[in-house]
Amino acid sequence: MLKIGILGLGTVGSGVVKIMQQNSVNIHNKVGTDLKIEKILVNNINKERIVDIEPGVLTENESDILDNPAIDIVVELIGGEEPAYKYIMRAIENGKHIVTANKLVIAKHGKEIFKKAEEKNVQVSYEASVAGGLPIIRPLQNSLAANRIEKIYGILNGTTNYILTKMSEDNQSFEEALLKAQEMGYAESDPTSDVDGYDAAYKITILSSLAYQRFVDVENVYVEGIRNIAIDDIKFAKEMGYVIKLLAIAKNSDEGLDIRVHPAFVPENHTLAMINNTYNCVYLHGDAVGEVMSSAEGAGQMPTGSAVVADIIYISKNINYNKQEYPKIDSCQKNNIIDTKEIESSFYIRLSVFDKPGVMAKIAKIFGDNNVSLASVLQKERLNPVVPLVLITHSVKEKYLYKSISEIKELEDVNDINSVIRVEKHI
Ligand SMILES: NC(=O)c1ccc[n+]([C@@H]2O[C@H](COP(=O)([O-])OP(=O)(O)OC[C@H]3O[C@@H](n4cnc5c(N)ncnc54)[C@H](OP(=O)(O)O)[C@@H]3O)[C@@H](O)[C@H]2O)c1
Repeated sequence: MLKIGILGLGTVGSGVVKIMQQNSVNIHNKVGTDLKIEKILVNNINKERIVDIEPGVLTENESDILDNPAIDIVVELIGGEEPAYKYIMRAIENGKHIVTANKLVIAKHGKEIFKKAEEKNVQVSYEASVAGGLPIIRPLQNSLAANRIEKIYGILNGTTNYILTKMSEDNQSFEEALLKAQEMGYAESDPTSDVDGYDAAYKITILSSLAYQRFVDVENVYVEGIRNIAIDDIKFAKEMGYVIKLLAIAKNSDEGLDIRVHPAFVPENHTLAMINNTYNCVYLHGDAVGEVMSSAEGAGQMPTGSAVVADIIYISKNINYNKQEYPKIDSCQKNNIIDTKEIESSFYIRLSVFDKPGVMAKIAKIFGDNNVSLASVLQKERLNPVVPLVLITHSVKEKYLYKSISEIKELEDVNDINSVIRVEKHI
């Protein structure tokens, strides 16, 4: 028998307990021994729980798990940076294997955690930290290991995907769609980490460390969220054959790593454009396998619980067969990450201009002088003196695009530059 200590009995912790209870026979057969939940750490032992827990299992004292010699595997489901990180390190120090769903801790402290795990000869599994129920960590470690991963495009945040879907399908503003996401329980009362792109940044950092064997400091990843996407941008995107998605991108080239999170125009017939609501998707290209795409619910009690229990089973089988696995990942120096100013993309630009003769010519001249060429121009009928002008550029380095934009802003015929969004034509 192997004994499990769980830190946290919230959304995911309760899902894990449910799955382990309802599938205990199946799990026994897969592992070859029983898995017993020995202790569960919570904040408040008297809180009502949605799962049946035997008396004496709940505790408010972390030492009952972290320093308990009977426990083999510690499952961290508290969330946040601290005390989760220090609990994980203490459990490893005490020789316990770790399962965690904590993207923040793995993205920020993965290097120290894996180093300590190797020293102590224990395993660390974190499938649920990226895209909940969607299997992507172990496929990158195992099934796709023969490949050089050329690029990864992910829709890795269900909240923002739900908001963008509502804006697109129901014509809702960002604020209306965010409120709906909060009512549905998809967005937290403080939605910053989701809508400003940080959640997706932690996840793409984890995926790129596996794909490219280099830890990237998440502070060096370019992150832009979806707060500034206007309903007009969604409409113009549709008119031009695109859908706006919050993309998490990781590519490897001779110049370095290109890792970023930002909203982007995605061609409407690309699979990524069809991933809606709270679904997550990872689309990647390996030199041998070609294109691989998988999609699933990126969060939620049972999908995330499914990934956590799979990790518990995986480690338990390894303990039974006495087989340890360690990731071999180096640190990525800041100068290995390509500055976004040097990255080439097409851009969608929405301006409002005064409807006077010669405006377009002045704008086109500035773009031309900066080597920015235009792929398409959409000018709306005149309804008042200020009209929207929508442009899509051909591929250009960001530094030239932004130089043009700053010059165009100074033109007196230009009222405002409303949006600048990258267009990912060739995913
Ligand atoms: N929710 C999802 O769909 C989802 C999806 C993917 C990954 N994740 C990740 O899974 C992890 C858990 O998320 P969750 O949604 O399950 O969180 P949650 O519902 O907020 O649950 C947190 C649990 O941890 C306990 N806890 C928190 N701080 C504690 C402390 N200092 N000492 C002792 N117990 C403490 C709480 O105790 P009480 O119950 O007594 O308050 C609660 O049971 C996070 O890392 C999250 O990013 C979640």
